[in-house]
Amino acid sequence: MRHLLSSEQLTKDQAIDLLDLADEMAEINTRENKKLPTLRGKTVVNLFFEDSTRTKTSFELAAKRLSADLVNFSAKGSSVSKGESLKDTALTLAAGGADAFVLRHSASGAAHTLANAGWTDIPVINAGDGTHEHPTQGLLDAMTIRERLHKNNSRGKDLAGVSVAIVGDILHSRVARSNIHLLNTLGADVTVVAPTTLMPNAGELRVKTSHNLDETIAGKPDVLMMLRIQQERMKGVFFPNETEYSSIWGLTKSRFKRLPETTLIMHPGPMNRGLEICSEAADSSQSTIVRQVANGISVRMAVLFKLLAPERSADE
Ligand code: CP
Repeated sequence: MRHLLSSEQLTKDQAIDLLDLADEMAEINTRENKKLPTLRGKTVVNLFFEDSTRTKTSFELAAKRLSADLVNFSAKGSSVSKGESLKDTALTLAAGGADAFVLRHSASGAAHTLANAGWTDIPVINAGDGTHEHPTQGLLDAMTIRERLHKNNSRGKDLAGVSVAIVGDILHSRVARSNIHLLNTLGADVTVVAPTTLMPNAGELRVKTSHNLDETIAGKPDVLMMLRIQQERMKGVFFPNETEYSSIWGLTKSRFKRLPETTLIMHPGPMNRGLEICSEAADSSQSTIVRQVANGISVRMAVLFKLLAPERSADE
């Protein structure tokens, strides 16, 4: 694997291999000394053209725990404001000796362009491109589901038979797309739940669709993944107002009480508390939201490791 541009590109074996390596990294992340020497001498460049808290800091921690040097580039405050292009920004940072680019961009396809335009031959990791994909988020979500649902039973390494409902603004969500591809590859039973205005064309999705969250909750899913309403990507009005959205599509206190205690509650963050998810659910013992963030570091260590040191093992 030269680049990680999408979850769609991953075979089942590749996905399980990355998840197993992320589990090894998670064990290393519990040690007093969390550092591995694997990427000493390598330079990872975070190229962030869009805001981020979780993804940016976790790639930074991941690179540092593998002993790589890390350059943090944010478009805000850079020469992008003077009109500098993605190509020239990438060439400028490549001139400093980059070994990997981690790219977040508002344009769907930006990571494919950086990887395939021939500007550089540096591996690219897609850290979220427009409404297209966010593959490391898909991996950290799968890691979290595997960790929580497999601990006390004999399920295998994939997610066969696990029922996952993804709820909310599917239309604008790269997290939903990456999860749909990866969860399908791993054998999960996926349903997306959204108002018609926030549901992509049925032909685009290879999953069941629903417009009724209460029916979904009555079906007792193993996982309920709530998505953020992405106001910044909305051009137009997609629902009458926030109170109505919350009462019909939100994980309210009353819906939370109707869920089985075994249902995992996930959210990729950042959350709009009180809109798509209530605090009672977000802060409950069923919530994996903080654990997802921790697993993000382990997954990103695994991805950097696979791309930059494919011949090495984690105990070297
Ligand atoms: N989940 C996620 O991508 O969060 P950030 O935008 O904070 O990176």
